[in-house]
Amino acid sequence: MAPSLASPITADEGCTPTIAAGCHQRRTGYISGRVIVEGRAAPTLSLANQEDLSGTNCSPRCHPPPTDEENFPDPAKTWNPDPRVYYSRRLQQQRALHARPAIPPVLPPRFPARIDPASPLVWSGQDLVEHEYLRSLSADDIAEIEHALEHFKGLSLPIAAVGRKTFPLPELGPRIISLSNKLYGQNNGRGFFILRGLDPKKYSARDNVILYAGIASYVAERRGRQDEKNNYLLHLTDLGASVAPDNVRQAPYSNVPQPFHTDTADILALYTLRPAFRGGRSLLASSSKIYNSLAPAHIATLAAPNWAFDSFGRTPSYTLRPLLYSVPSGTTRRIQLSFSRRPLTGSPVSPRTPTIPSLTPAQSAALDTVHFCGVAHALSVAQQPGDLLFWNNFALLHAREGFQDREEPEERRHLLRLWLRDDKRAREWGNVPEELMAPWRDAFEGEGEMGVENWPVEPVREFAFVTEQRRSSGHA
Ligand SMILES: [Fe+2]
Repeated sequence: MAPSLASPITADEGCTPTIAAGCHQRRTGYISGRVIVEGRAAPTLSLANQEDLSGTNCSPRCHPPPTDEENFPDPAKTWNPDPRVYYSRRLQQQRALHARPAIPPVLPPRFPARIDPASPLVWSGQDLVEHEYLRSLSADDIAEIEHALEHFKGLSLPIAAVGRKTFPLPELGPRIISLSNKLYGQNNGRGFFILRGLDPKKYSARDNVILYAGIASYVAERRGRQDEKNNYLLHLTDLGASVAPDNVRQAPYSNVPQPFHTDTADILALYTLRPAFRGGRSLLASSSKIYNSLAPAHIATLAAPNWAFDSFGRTPSYTLRPLLYSVPSGTTRRIQLSFSRRPLTGSPVSPRTPTIPSLTPAQSAALDTVHFCGVAHALSVAQQPGDLLFWNNFALLHAREGFQDREEPEERRHLLRLWLRDDKRAREWGNVPEELMAPWRDAFEGEGEMGVENWPVEPVREFAFVTEQRRSSGHA
């Protein structure tokens, strides 16, 4: 039984891993779609050697290098990277390093050698236990939410007007505000939490959206527009080939696995109306844990401002920026990974523009290392119907397993996504790096083609919408 929202939040550093890494579980970390996961935790690659010569300590005991590596595709062009390619290349790197003297590590300026491993934001999924991040809503909490829902409906306002004043939660609201400190590592927070206990089947589609936006307003008051259509709510569900064929339907509307990435928001929120029949879990990984696993050479590569992001037909055809940032945060600094793989590698439904620069071998190696360190240290979140999952997009990377749905349309996986921002906390914790501000302004500050907010209570089923390649983020 998860602790109630009212129970004190306790530190639980150093807890016992709930799942031991082993060969039979190793494949659960592979999210390329060939394997559907049933375990609780994605972390499956045991750490073989902290002094690993290839420059990362995310070494798997159970991934033997392939013998026919020349048959594998170029990893720099692979959206969901193949672990056989990655570990084959690392074996080659190890051999090369054995053959020449070690090069002294050089970190770029303002990047620490290591994030304090005692920080609650530095974690491996296998070390977490549910009571650190799961809070159950009581019957009184749910009654209060339903009262707020009826209150809002009585105001006859559009969904865009949902907020703390129009969706009053006098008892629960302050507790959610306090709980949200965990997103920033306070109160031993891990950068995410789940509220559990709602039954989405009790409510209409519109009422589910209202109560979701209402509860989320206590986590962060500003909501971001998620696309060029001014949609402030996105439906994550496989719309199937009747809306658009598999080879053009973008990942949010498909069942394919999505590699580790970030979105364009300070905080991400997912409300699970229905989970998938198999798979489809969200994978969360601590960016700081990944950072501590990286070699200085990889850190330097990730922090260099020369990563070419495909604009998929816009002008200019690509932009350059780093993937890794060192951000002032109070009296210290925090590190932040911000990227999607799709504009860097292309994907099956968004082929990379052939005339723009490819990733260099060093970039390809660093990008894949980030991904597989994410796999090694991820928590696989088994969402239940009604779960409200919130996480800090600056502190965690996320990915999604491929999934299998039931046949009945009304039983298919269906999640609702919000992009959130809390200006005060963002200033205190360290704001968005300047290189990322353009999409943030577009989402949160009304620059761009803003207009009336759209809050679609049902998925948009238009071919052009679900096949749009140019959307900046959220497509992994
Ligand atoms: Fe995403």
